[in-house]
Amino acid sequence: MRMREALRAVRVPDLKKKKERGEKIAVLTAYDATMAGLFDRAGIDVLLVGDSLGTVILGYDSTVPVTLDDMLHHTAAVCRGSKRALVVADMPFLSYQVSIPEALRNASRLIQKGSAAAVKMEGAGPVIPVTKALSEVGIPVMGHLGLTPQAVHALGGYRSQARDQASASQLIEDAHALEEAGAVGLFLEAIPDEVARQVTTLLNIPTIGIGAGPYCDGQVLVSYDVFGIFDKFTPSFVRHYASLGDTLVSATRSYIDDVKNGHFPEPRGSSPATATPKRMDLVEKES
Ligand code: KIV
Repeated sequence: MRMREALRAVRVPDLKKKKERGEKIAVLTAYDATMAGLFDRAGIDVLLVGDSLGTVILGYDSTVPVTLDDMLHHTAAVCRGSKRALVVADMPFLSYQVSIPEALRNASRLIQKGSAAAVKMEGAGPVIPVTKALSEVGIPVMGHLGLTPQAVHALGGYRSQARDQASASQLIEDAHALEEAGAVGLFLEAIPDEVARQVTTLLNIPTIGIGAGPYCDGQVLVSYDVFGIFDKFTPSFVRHYASLGDTLVSATRSYIDDVKNGHFPEPRGSSPATATPKRMDLVEKES
């Protein structure tokens, strides 16, 4: 990647250009401004404000209870925190299935108020005309096929998908239909590597895999899984790049010990040497 391009904001058409150049797309989920800023600084291409926030941030058992207001709140925070990455917001369960006008209204809130550049919707079938309607008014849509967590009850759990010939062919057909309807990219979750490879070869739009093997045009993981923060359940395909949960627990224990033993704070005497200048500025302004 050339230096100028590395610094420039990632825009929707860049995703397809990356596919055409054979350049892999790196995607992580983000839910707040501070984390988004850190991932952005590291050079992530796309930040997905996933409705996985239901499980990793809000403490629900699934993504089903997540509301549009939840998504809006977190999408706006991620957009405030990131400068370069493209921000994609998940449309939560039942925010796009009731009717096309309602889907348009809900998607436009994520774009207008949340400042997302694109929205993501799960599934095909009735989602195809919705994808077309949103695309036609200029709202970029990313599809999501394979394991679609909002359908957890219908699927009977978080199981891998497209494992037999019939369901693999259906998935490939659905992927084509989403592309034709105007989708700008496609997330593929928990499907066999070979099915993901075929979809990636057949489509002109980029595929972003999660538990879908190495042949997709990009990869996404839930950041709280990758960095070892969320430990209630870790899918087998996740690779851990840090153990921040353990680091936080151990740092918290040190803080508790210091407070209990009277080691924090230290007496300041006449020079407030331990406070950072930025914080002290604040304290002085407030007093
Ligand atoms: O909600 C989410 O984080 C997602 C990814 C797992 C693709 O949809």
